[in-house]
Amino acid sequence: MDNSPVKRASWSGQLAFILAAAASAIGLGNLWRFPYLAAQYGGGTFIVVYLALVVTLGFTLMVTEIAIGRMTHQSQLTAYSKLHRGFGPLGLLATIIPVVIVPYYCVIGGWVLKYFWTYAKMAVTPGTDLMSDPGSFFGSFIGAPFAPFGYGLLFIFVCALVIALGVKHGIEKSNLVLMPLLFIMAIGIALYVVSLPGSAAGLKYYFVPNMDALRGADGGFSLAQLARTILGAMGQMFYSLSLAMGIMITYGSYMRPGDSIEKSVRRIEIFDTVIAVVAGMMIIPVVYMFAVKTGTPVHDAMNAGPGLMFVTLPKVFADFGRTGAFVGAMFFLLVAFAALTSAISLYEACVASVCDLLHMKRRNATFFMFFVIAFLSVFSALGFGVWGKITPMGMDFLSFFDFVTNAVLMPIVAIVTCVFVGWVLKPAAIEAEILKGEKRFVARGLYNVMVKYVAPVLIGAVLVSEICRNLGLFGWKI
Ligand code: PHE
Repeated sequence: MDNSPVKRASWSGQLAFILAAAASAIGLGNLWRFPYLAAQYGGGTFIVVYLALVVTLGFTLMVTEIAIGRMTHQSQLTAYSKLHRGFGPLGLLATIIPVVIVPYYCVIGGWVLKYFWTYAKMAVTPGTDLMSDPGSFFGSFIGAPFAPFGYGLLFIFVCALVIALGVKHGIEKSNLVLMPLLFIMAIGIALYVVSLPGSAAGLKYYFVPNMDALRGADGGFSLAQLARTILGAMGQMFYSLSLAMGIMITYGSYMRPGDSIEKSVRRIEIFDTVIAVVAGMMIIPVVYMFAVKTGTPVHDAMNAGPGLMFVTLPKVFADFGRTGAFVGAMFFLLVAFAALTSAISLYEACVASVCDLLHMKRRNATFFMFFVIAFLSVFSALGFGVWGKITPMGMDFLSFFDFVTNAVLMPIVAIVTCVFVGWVLKPAAIEAEILKGEKRFVARGLYNVMVKYVAPVLIGAVLVSEICRNLGLFGWKI
């Protein structure tokens, strides 16, 4: 009875939950952000730091959120106030985050649809600027007055359809189709890239720790560089695991008490990390080869930010001729699936919050949120064209929303959540929830230390560094 505002929906089993959480976690962050951060921060060095953070800090936060969801049977908006009235505002803050993120995430999803469609057409009839001049193709597409909004709207609409069908019939079923396809395509493309002659140098660049990334201007080991690598990896980890924005609380609220939270979290982490690492194997070797061929410094080619996916990679695909159109179509289909399942989780976190607060029916809440999201997406969709002159804090709208959520709101929600659980609710309450589906909480000791002390301090460092970096304070630029 997914439609009922009274009886809460549930996943059909532990595997369905793991798949849904992994589907949320695996997204643009894995396919695009992880590879370029890894390239930027010294390949293997970054991967090692990232892994260490996932199994400690990421584990702690994910366990916390899922347990809060399952123990309250509420989404993030009302979960905190159910546990402690004083922490109600934290729920509100955690709900604002997906409401702000989902519109711009869908706008980028729209760009991906446009690219998929263009490559699919090119596989049949060659041509278009995307082959001859990817830079101006991208610029003129995102600067157009209507197209970016139109594609974004289509993307939002598809998410709405899945969500309206409910937890079991919509989200669960769509994951059952999209996730295996995603895995197959990712492995397929990575194998193709690895088999290309000359890919070995790129793979080496990606996997072998490059200690130069930890050297300062004087050539010696730099503590500041190490700190930047850790902070960069930590920001990526939050984003990639969909933490600190209430999604895991909402998804946890649909989890059955007998299922194991600890084991589920470990599996979600494995899925998410494997796809991130495989994404690097798809992207880094080809960009490396292309950089060498065109005489571009490798570091600059990798460091193209959003341009890496929408401009640099299309240049590489163009180099492959007709095969490039097929590979391009397959690549962007893969990205579209990953982005879709992540956007669905964001949208669901909003819908569940509306349902819980107003006791609304799922379909009505989905419809209501469709208009809110579509309206908010206009800003990000037009921010590179018609509204390009409006630049809040010197940023385009999309970057501004990204900054406010990722750099400011998410760290705040994560710190307050840890302080709340560590010192007010007490870790024993989380443990009790975990023990409903498990004989023993294996990582209990680690969890207690992390949630009480380490996590708030580390996340505080992310907050300060992100703000300094984005506002260019203290000469902090990465
Ligand atoms: N975790 C997703 C990714 O890696 C991104 C995401 C962010 C998903 C916010 C949901 C919410 O791309």
